[in-house]
Amino acid sequence: MLSNWIQQAKNMVVFTGAGMSTESGLPDFRSSNNGLWRKKDPNKIASTEALNNNVDEFIEFYRERVLKVKEFGPHKGHDILADWEKKGKIQSIITQNVDGFHQQAGSKRVAELHGSLQKLRCQSCGKEYDSEEYINKEYHCSCGGILRPNIVLFGEMLPQDAFQFAQEEAVKSDLFIVLGSSLSVTPANQFPLIAKEHGAKLVIVNQEKTEMDRYADQVIPNKKIGELLRELDMELFS
Ligand code: APR
Repeated sequence: MLSNWIQQAKNMVVFTGAGMSTESGLPDFRSSNNGLWRKKDPNKIASTEALNNNVDEFIEFYRERVLKVKEFGPHKGHDILADWEKKGKIQSIITQNVDGFHQQAGSKRVAELHGSLQKLRCQSCGKEYDSEEYINKEYHCSCGGILRPNIVLFGEMLPQDAFQFAQEEAVKSDLFIVLGSSLSVTPANQFPLIAKEHGAKLVIVNQEKTEMDRYADQVIPNKKIGELLRELDMELFS
């Protein structure tokens, strides 16, 4: 059924979460087995409060994540999504992920709702650096300010341009496919509902239940994303 919907879709948008990158080797946040937030409290480590009052632990945590993002890369599923964009089958990707793997795989129209770990910025003057600085244990800007990842911390606003782009894409979509998200973080988790409210078919591919399953036209809980994308690619384009 899903391959038919993809075939017929005129405006297919894909929405990804951390489950899209677990097959690359990155942990997700809320998987019952090894999600990052199963071990650490996000409010104490991934928030502006942590940056201001717990900066050593904050930097150590994000240096670890930068090392993993530089060590791993896109898997076959990311490549398939980039190929489907080239084939005109995908309009855009809205991602909560900060690993940059969609762009590394060749996807062009990507909204990074939560920013990117590939870059750092000075908390004082805003100057941008490559996240290599963290790998080299360089934690300060030339102005003396502290360098923090260019991602959205709990308590911060989403980047306006990415939010706007995602809003427009969700409204225009006629097929909205969620890949690997628990859909538990606002406002990102509103985009599947916006798509649905504007007439799109909503499909959720996720190994565990999500908070939006009841709104979906189809839920696919028992498939790993990479495997599903390979099967769909064979059905649709081989
Ligand atoms: N195939 C299918 N589903 C998978 C796979 C896989 N290979 N790997 C993991 N999953 C599912 C998990 O079952 C989990 O429900 O992906 C989901 C990922 O959910 P979360 O860990 O909550 O990640 P996400 O939804 O992206 O989190 C949203 O929370 O902490 C913030 O900013 C952070 O962007 C993140 C946001």
